[in-house]
Amino acid sequence: MLGKSELNNLKKKFVEYFGDGGRVFFAPSRINIIGEHIDYNGGKVLPAAIDIGTYAIAKPNSINKLRLKSLNMEYEDEIELSDLEYDENRNWINYVVGMFKFIKEAGYEIGGCDILIYGNIPNGAGLSSSASLEILIAKIVSVFFNKDKIPNIEMAKLGKQVENEYIGVNSGIMDQFAITMGKDNKAIYLDTNTLDYEYIDMDLKDYSFVILNTNKRRELKDSKYNIRRKECEEGLEILKKYEDINNLCDFLPDQRFYKALDKIKDENIKNRVLHVVTENQRVKLMIMAMENNDLIQMGRLLDSSHKSLKEKYEVTGFELDSIVEAARENENTLGARMTGAGFGGCAIALIKTSGFEDFKSEVSKKYFERTDIECEIFLSKIDDGPREVVL
Ligand code: GLA
Repeated sequence: MLGKSELNNLKKKFVEYFGDGGRVFFAPSRINIIGEHIDYNGGKVLPAAIDIGTYAIAKPNSINKLRLKSLNMEYEDEIELSDLEYDENRNWINYVVGMFKFIKEAGYEIGGCDILIYGNIPNGAGLSSSASLEILIAKIVSVFFNKDKIPNIEMAKLGKQVENEYIGVNSGIMDQFAITMGKDNKAIYLDTNTLDYEYIDMDLKDYSFVILNTNKRRELKDSKYNIRRKECEEGLEILKKYEDINNLCDFLPDQRFYKALDKIKDENIKNRVLHVVTENQRVKLMIMAMENNDLIQMGRLLDSSHKSLKEKYEVTGFELDSIVEAARENENTLGARMTGAGFGGCAIALIKTSGFEDFKSEVSKKYFERTDIECEIFLSKIDDGPREVVL
């Protein structure tokens, strides 16, 4: 979290732009510990909200307009509440406008608002800056116009709707769910099929998850994300002819599954399905390992998840593979994997906390030697969901 004086500076900026004081809001970003690319296959995932995220200073206005400004992006705009349609020239503002549109369509109140945004999530890092912005806006609209009564799960669903129907990314619900339901020092074990969830304690004693940003940017809209999703749908269609399933994750990686898998002739589709079904199993094994405090096994599961994402799902790429390899070579590391959609962005590693400085300098150096890119490596606190910050 930003400190008091930094937040006061943001408030001052708001006054410069909009002429009067506003209230401070925050929504976290997220990492995913394991369960990658299975939230759109009815799988189980294990994300956690983290304390870097998106801030807003906001205030309702009486002119029925959204006046929007960001300290990270140059583009700013004024939008009439009567014109909430998607416009590709609107850049990041589409996420805000999309939320206002779908919140209204869901039957909640909206109103004119002045909003200044500042985010400290590294850009294009795959830590879900877009979901963080969506949920931040949902919280603001809930507080200002709905007596703070929009349920968090509803916010998550509306955020996903904006991604899918407004922005055009066919993502699952993991990111929005993780951000709205985030809890201090807990990961969220979420069944994406039923939306049942459980909080998992993240007290790892002498160990921590570190975040490694490859600084290779990726935008989901231009990435192969939607293609992967289609490939899974194709796999499901074929398998449904032979087995009574609704989702790929209805399978366990057992004989019945491997027999069915043989029916798929396209090697790519076969590999995608194989990743999905084994990844879902790895999530369950991770929960068991955490319950048993078996950190070695946790590390192994991270490694095998990355291997599957690299070889079977093909969403890692040179930078993510390089950073994960460099991380594994460090003596403090138990395991590492990409996190989020892939194609660039961030990885996570489970390391001995006392070795952090050594880890950081060795991995940064090796990564630079191999890729010519400077990476960022940091520890982050697991945090609560969206909230108003009272100074
Ligand atoms: C992105 C999407 C999520 C999820 C991950 C991959 O972050 O927004 O819904 O599919 O990729 O696990």
